[in-house]
Amino acid sequence: MQMPTWLVTGGAGFIGSNFVRSARREGLARIVNLDKLTYAGHPENLEELGGDGDHVFVRGDIGDAALVDALLREHQPAAIVNFAAESHVDRSILGPAEFIQTNVVGTQVLLQCALRYWKELEPRRAQAFRVLHVSTDEVYGTLGANDAPFTEDSQYRPNSPYAASKAAADHLVRAYSQTFSLPVLTTNCSNNYGPYQHPEKLIPLMIGNGTAGRPLPVYGDGLQIRDWLYVQDHCEALCRVLERGVPGETYNIGGDCERTNLDIISSLCRLLDAAHPQSAPHARLITHVSDRPGHDRRYAIDASKIKRELGWQPRTAFGEGLARTLDWYEAHAGWVAAVAGGAHQRWIETNYGGRSPAVERGGR
Ligand code: NAD
Ligand code: TYD
Repeated sequence: MQMPTWLVTGGAGFIGSNFVRSARREGLARIVNLDKLTYAGHPENLEELGGDGDHVFVRGDIGDAALVDALLREHQPAAIVNFAAESHVDRSILGPAEFIQTNVVGTQVLLQCALRYWKELEPRRAQAFRVLHVSTDEVYGTLGANDAPFTEDSQYRPNSPYAASKAAADHLVRAYSQTFSLPVLTTNCSNNYGPYQHPEKLIPLMIGNGTAGRPLPVYGDGLQIRDWLYVQDHCEALCRVLERGVPGETYNIGGDCERTNLDIISSLCRLLDAAHPQSAPHARLITHVSDRPGHDRRYAIDASKIKRELGWQPRTAFGEGLARTLDWYEAHAGWVAAVAGGAHQRWIETNYGGRSPAVERGGR
């Protein structure tokens, strides 16, 4: 059987590049990778694919209809997987406009191109065609300590501009299913961690700062809870949804791994202590800083639907995934230096420069 082609958008970012690398490693599909290469997208993430004739990289915007139409016409994909997005909550607070442009307008343009393309396909290929839209649990808003985890039926209550833009995109995806019968699938996943995550996000930021002996900035009291999933497990879930998901359905994906931010940072400090005993204890670097405005207190995912209907399970225990992630960052100092250049330093000054130290707790 001939290998299918998938158009992957945002495939030079964190999750997208993990997805593309594993799809190519396993020979699942030929990949056309459309990525704008914003500050978050890096050709270095795709170096492993150098010389792979079945990975075609195209620098461009999902909001460029002429480009997307041309790529669909030329490559005739069997599926589109949409990772392209502005993804960092703190950036959405300081500058929401780009989030609306890519996450909302860009997604609508992509859907419209997909619809045009799908309508022209011969019936057998049209029936097999899928658009998989990768979204987040943040669309559901925040949970109290005793609330049940989010299900696919939880109400949308986004609290940050990022979450609102992803919620708007999810609604558009739903509308293209209901109105035009476009065969779409939506996944809402919890916080990912693992190799190739941009150093501005919690876990890689703490690894970088901890290794360099810089403060570990904890927003507010650090007791906010996230549900963490190793990125490779997320990629496997997405393949399962592409392969077996029912068009028009949404699937929640999570790691059954609720942790407070302080738990995460303390676990990392212990791993750093073991790797660099001369600088122990790293917990002395924990510094509480002023909180993120509108900071969601708790996310938790009920992933029973994807487990029951598609037979997916998270496979990586948190301790193992975290240790693997730390090892990867320590072994890839060159990658970190390449992606954390001048623009990243300016972001650090913008985001952390104005934060006053808050209640001093832990580690001292
Ligand atoms: P990321 O920020 O690391 O990567 C985003 C990628 O999209 C980058 O390569 C960037 O260059 C590209 N991009 C941005 N705007 C574009 C545009 N207009 N056209 C084409 N490419 C564009 O993000 P990530 O963490 O890999 O997240 C990928 C997707 O998964 C996002 O849609 C995000 O909302 C979703 N998600 C992320 C998490 C998480 O914990 N990281 C959890 C759940 C869902
Ligand atoms: P983040 O990685 O930005 O993901 P999200 O906000 O999408 O869940 O942050 C994860 C958690 O860590 C979130 O509660 C905010 C917190 N956090 C800090 O306490 N300090 C930091 O420097 C960062 C980047 C995040």
